[in-house]
Amino acid sequence: MTAPIPASVIKQHLIDPEICIRCNTCEETCPIDAITHDSNNYVVNPEVCKSCMACVPPCPTGAIDNWLKVLSDQAYSMEAQFGWTELPAQQDLPEPAAGEAAEQSPAAVPVAAETQEDPNADLDGLPSTSAGASIPPWSAAHPYLNLYTHKNPVMATVVGNYRVTDEDTESDIHHIVLDFGEQPFPVLEGQSVAIFPPGVDASGRPYHARQYSIASPRDGERPRYNNLSLTVKRVTTDYEGNPTLGVCSNYLCDLKKNDTVKVIGPYGNTFLMPNQVDSNLIMICTGTGSAPMRAMTERCRRLTKEQNFNGKLMLFFGARTERELPYFGPLMNLAKEFIDINLALSRAPGQPKRYVQDLIRERASDVMSLIENGKTCIYVCGLKGMEDGVIDALRHVVSQAGGDWTEVHAQLKTQGRLHFETY
Ligand code: A2P
Repeated sequence: MTAPIPASVIKQHLIDPEICIRCNTCEETCPIDAITHDSNNYVVNPEVCKSCMACVPPCPTGAIDNWLKVLSDQAYSMEAQFGWTELPAQQDLPEPAAGEAAEQSPAAVPVAAETQEDPNADLDGLPSTSAGASIPPWSAAHPYLNLYTHKNPVMATVVGNYRVTDEDTESDIHHIVLDFGEQPFPVLEGQSVAIFPPGVDASGRPYHARQYSIASPRDGERPRYNNLSLTVKRVTTDYEGNPTLGVCSNYLCDLKKNDTVKVIGPYGNTFLMPNQVDSNLIMICTGTGSAPMRAMTERCRRLTKEQNFNGKLMLFFGARTERELPYFGPLMNLAKEFIDINLALSRAPGQPKRYVQDLIRERASDVMSLIENGKTCIYVCGLKGMEDGVIDALRHVVSQAGGDWTEVHAQLKTQGRLHFETY
């Protein structure tokens, strides 16, 4: 008779439901579909997860980076995780007997692996799914993260709410300014916050917080004020085009001056700008993906005045028409020597449909000379659909110049010079 294998202690990969803002990044990133969600929680399937860590760097909140020691035959099931409102406490576990090998579970990292430098060391062969870097540019300022959480949110006051697309267009996009008063809320360009819409969902639970990119620079929408701005599009249809009102976007677009809003964050430690006065930015965005680009552009504009910023800015901005392009007026007022603006309009009357990737191809040699400069960082934000198109366009740019995109792409990633934020 074979003796039963004793259960060993493993580290189970889990998501903290109190910090998770349900942005779907982990589910999209996981190369082996180990992460899924219901209307309540995002969970990790212990039967599938190989602890490859691919999902950890892209998570904006760090909710993904939780590991509880459990006995291998007592891993938390998906059903248990779906029901959680908070992570369970670490249970006391028996010490492994001397010389006892930790059992390798596909569901979790064996405790013995804690001492390994690389958590992927014995998990070779998993594809890396992210097209962008998982580290910030080396010179980026250090971001604050998770200062305010579900347990200790901060209340901000609305000090402005303006429509930034033409009144009679379908795209109702608002620029919303939130002030934090005396409460510290330090942010960097490229970071995001999450907002709780009031009310409860169909199952009677309070709505989850929704994430929005910050549209203002680190020193405030108004310089030296403790405020920040967001760019929010009123959602009136679902992904299939059926009429439905987005809970948080409609709440935000309807806010009045002096209303208060429950905020958590800040989030994001990779989509950050370099901090050198001669670094260059290639910014590629559609619609409200312009928020971080506005933040970075405004940061550089202020630096130009104060600290002789002299890097190059190149912007590719996609919208249906000029009238539906958020911040069209202010953008057009920026000096040509300061920023090279390329507008891709897809529904401009009497003009052919253009996407950002078409314009990147047209400007191939200028884009390439920036990419060749190690001080250039590339930021892509907006519709998920443009991600592949932009990568193809960059591949074209590099190949046309006789370069090898695979090599250049790998270099941009390892140097923290290529960043995506798509939804
Ligand atoms: P389209 O006219 O084909 O929808 P939206 O206004 O919906 O936020 O979109 C912003 C812009 O992004 C629009 O011009 C839209 O064009 C364009 N767009 C849509 N799909 C893609 C894609 N796959 N790649 C690049 N741009 C896209």
